[in-house]
Amino acid sequence: MPSLLRFSLTLALLFVASLAASCTGEDLLPDDALPPVWGVAAAEDLDPQVGVVEYSLRVSDTDLELVEGLTTEAWTFNGTSPGPLLQARVGDLVKVHVTNDLDEATTVHWHGMRVPVEMDGVVWGNLKAIEPGTTFTYEFVAPDAGSYWYHPHIRSKVQVEAGLYGPIVIHEREEEQPDVDADRYFVLDDIRLDADGSISPHGTSHPDQMHGRSGNVLLVNGEERAPRVYLAAEAVERWRLVNAANARTMTLRFEGLDVREIGADGGLWPQDWTRSVDEIVLPVGARAELEVRLADPAQDGEMDLVVLALNSLGNVIEEEIKLVPVRFDADAEASTHAGHTANPQPVLPDAAHGDDEQHEIEFDAYEGNDGVVWTLNGYSWPDYDPWSVDVGEQQVIKISNPLGPEHPFHLHGQLFSVLSRNGQPADEPGLRDTVRVTGQSEVVIAVDFSNPGTWMYHCHILEHADLGMMALVEVD
Ligand code: C2O
Ligand code: CU
Repeated sequence: MPSLLRFSLTLALLFVASLAASCTGEDLLPDDALPPVWGVAAAEDLDPQVGVVEYSLRVSDTDLELVEGLTTEAWTFNGTSPGPLLQARVGDLVKVHVTNDLDEATTVHWHGMRVPVEMDGVVWGNLKAIEPGTTFTYEFVAPDAGSYWYHPHIRSKVQVEAGLYGPIVIHEREEEQPDVDADRYFVLDDIRLDADGSISPHGTSHPDQMHGRSGNVLLVNGEERAPRVYLAAEAVERWRLVNAANARTMTLRFEGLDVREIGADGGLWPQDWTRSVDEIVLPVGARAELEVRLADPAQDGEMDLVVLALNSLGNVIEEEIKLVPVRFDADAEASTHAGHTANPQPVLPDAAHGDDEQHEIEFDAYEGNDGVVWTLNGYSWPDYDPWSVDVGEQQVIKISNPLGPEHPFHLHGQLFSVLSRNGQPADEPGLRDTVRVTGQSEVVIAVDFSNPGTWMYHCHILEHADLGMMALVEVD
């Protein structure tokens, strides 16, 4: 099955489509319309009112051609994977009708968005899933501008792998929006396919239990051959990235591009936090916001993706894949755009609590009867270590990982900042909902518990969560 062994090739993913017409403003939109985002087709807003967006998502079985010439029976939102782009302006009321046409229950979780807990798409206690043949309407106000994503939160390792994930953009108020030539969302995933194109069965192999399931086909916006990107000589673009894979941490290395990191999970940063980067590491679940220019307009640029893969011995190795060839567009007019110049001041949990950690979370594992069981403070979901905080409280939390495999820690309903790693101040500005905790390391975060409810936190390696690495924190 050589056609599936894409990761063994440092292969420029040759691109077929050109810069989407949606970026040139050809299909003109009413004045109050949301700015176009290139990458994934936007869902239609069913409510004409300003301040309200209303979307319909149908979850179903769909045959897709992810790899040329092969059919993959995937699960999709509205027939595509990624599902359509959902977008709103910060402060808008968002309504999403989700109809489940699968043979099994599903939900939609709005990863990173501080929505009310009963709209969070999780399943435990009296929070129920969407049963086959039924519709549920999620309704919430979009509280923070930024790049988010949505995915089911039941049997996630199977449902997300099968294609159920999509991007969300909550646009800034107009005066804070970066002034760019194009706004693009790259949804990254890997999927494990068999030679006939079908999704490989979810097994219980030791590497999958230890490191999660890595795919053998890399997808950018649902395509193995993602569109080539053309930049004008002086163009400045906003790129949003999300890692929607089950388990694979991705390192993005930028060649021929001048890249400034301008935001993370919880939105854009003030100017003095932004910085030039040659590469970024994106654990599963996390997002990056980048301002991208050609380093040398006379030369082609390329963005390499360096991924962690398992070799035949089950060891984690790095492989390089050319992800997004960027081409200089000689005919385009020089850009007159300024990029990200606003100075948003996110409300950060402060580190005033000093070094006193107020809570500790330890990642661990033991060998159970059916293989590895992953634990948080010694408990494996549906058991968990009781933990409650007052709403409005800020807590400093030490997360420790004494074992080898890494864990992207994700907290629902709140945002946090990363204070330190292994005792050294962290160089990871911005508000986050997901943080990478590498093997044998310690990360200290400060959480602003501003959103009441009982919230899940878990490892976002979906196989680890499935094997127990999930718990609840009560905020009231
Ligand atoms: Cu992206 Cu608990 O999820
Ligand atoms: Cu984990």
